[in-house]
Amino acid sequence: MKDLKPGLKKITEIEDLRRVAERKVPRMFYDYVDSGSWTETTYRSNETDFDRIKLRQRVLVDMDNRSLATQMIGESVNMPVAIAPTGFTGMMWADGEIHAARAAEKFGVPFSLSTMSICSIEDIATHTSKPFWFQLYVMRDQDYMANLIQRAKDANCSALILTADLQVMGQRHKDIKNGLSAPPKPTLTNIINLMTKPQWCMNMLGTKRRSFGNIVGHAKGVEDLSSLSSWTEEQFDPRLSWDDVARIKDMWGGKLIIKGIMEPEDAIMAARSGADALVVSNHGGRQLDGALSSISALSDIVQAVHAENSDIEVWLDSGIRSGQDVLKAISLGAKGTMIGRAFLYGLGAYGEDGVRRALEIIYKECDISMAFCGHTDINKVTDDILVKGTYENLKVGRF
Ligand SMILES: Cc1cc2nc3c(=O)[nH]c(=O)nc-3n(C[C@H](O)[C@H](O)[C@H](O)COP(=O)(O)O)c2cc1C
Repeated sequence: MKDLKPGLKKITEIEDLRRVAERKVPRMFYDYVDSGSWTETTYRSNETDFDRIKLRQRVLVDMDNRSLATQMIGESVNMPVAIAPTGFTGMMWADGEIHAARAAEKFGVPFSLSTMSICSIEDIATHTSKPFWFQLYVMRDQDYMANLIQRAKDANCSALILTADLQVMGQRHKDIKNGLSAPPKPTLTNIINLMTKPQWCMNMLGTKRRSFGNIVGHAKGVEDLSSLSSWTEEQFDPRLSWDDVARIKDMWGGKLIIKGIMEPEDAIMAARSGADALVVSNHGGRQLDGALSSISALSDIVQAVHAENSDIEVWLDSGIRSGQDVLKAISLGAKGTMIGRAFLYGLGAYGEDGVRRALEIIYKECDISMAFCGHTDINKVTDDILVKGTYENLKVGRF
């Protein structure tokens, strides 16, 4: 890999990337990323609950030859971290999904493309050389759905992520107040704000990808922006059920990941559905405000799946801002993790280089923390690295 640009060496934690992104990205898109639903209680506890889990420092153990390499649904990964699917990503940085997918490919971790991405499935396939994952939102328009799944197959996507927690949308106050749209509407507030983001504007002028690439021109009656917003509002299918999971699994015919599981009962349903992985996730605190943090939901789900004798993999996302968070999730039984905001901050700050920096930061933090805890192989890490009681305390009152 080529050397980092000199300025990026001073970027040492995800928070640095967040601060730069906040400066460079237009307000409505930065707010879209850096917010949760309603009071943002769950959004905040996703992060703070990780901090409450303490690690046990071990010493004088041979810490040479360490490895974070493992597998997620049978795919080799350089660390147990995948890029989560996120909508509007091409508004954080022009052609953002292409930049993030390239950074992930070079780093050796999976990239997931959202249904609500700006760059299309075909754009990502053209600009990368390894298979990526496609995330599906189930829409009412059946022809559109069948076509979308076929497009993911044609693009050689190696897994389908079915997002189970967005049949209806959580309300995010800032998006309503900002009048979020892609591209932004030419209101006075937006124009004044865009004038302070010259690099973003220049980059955007250089691309044609400024609206939802998987939808415009593909969904019936959605040829332009005015038809797009009413289409998306009507289309998310609130009737989605476990029966549909079986139908979608058959249509897809490949590896399936169900994302948005927070309760053991639902984890058991996911295991019985024959999915290859489930993601313990509350959508980064963007859906049910007042839900548990995802890390506090993890171990009960791992146990439930274990009791089922299922070989479905349990992954986790929501709240990961450091490699230590990854390590804690793995120690509690997750086989993999996904990151949303951690990579989006990098993207908004420096494009592809910023996503690469985010991945490097997380890798290094995970690797060094694992060593301090006396381990050299991520596949052998267990909850013996945690100070007893510090995780259990998060779950007081759960049952
Ligand atoms: C800005 C943003 C957009 C998102 N869009 C989608 C999406 O289109 N599809 C999806 O399944 N999840 C989406 N998510 C949820 C992420 O896939 C993931 O669950 C979440 O970001 C994890 O939390 P974290 O951001 O704290 O890492 C989005 C999250 C963010 C922050």
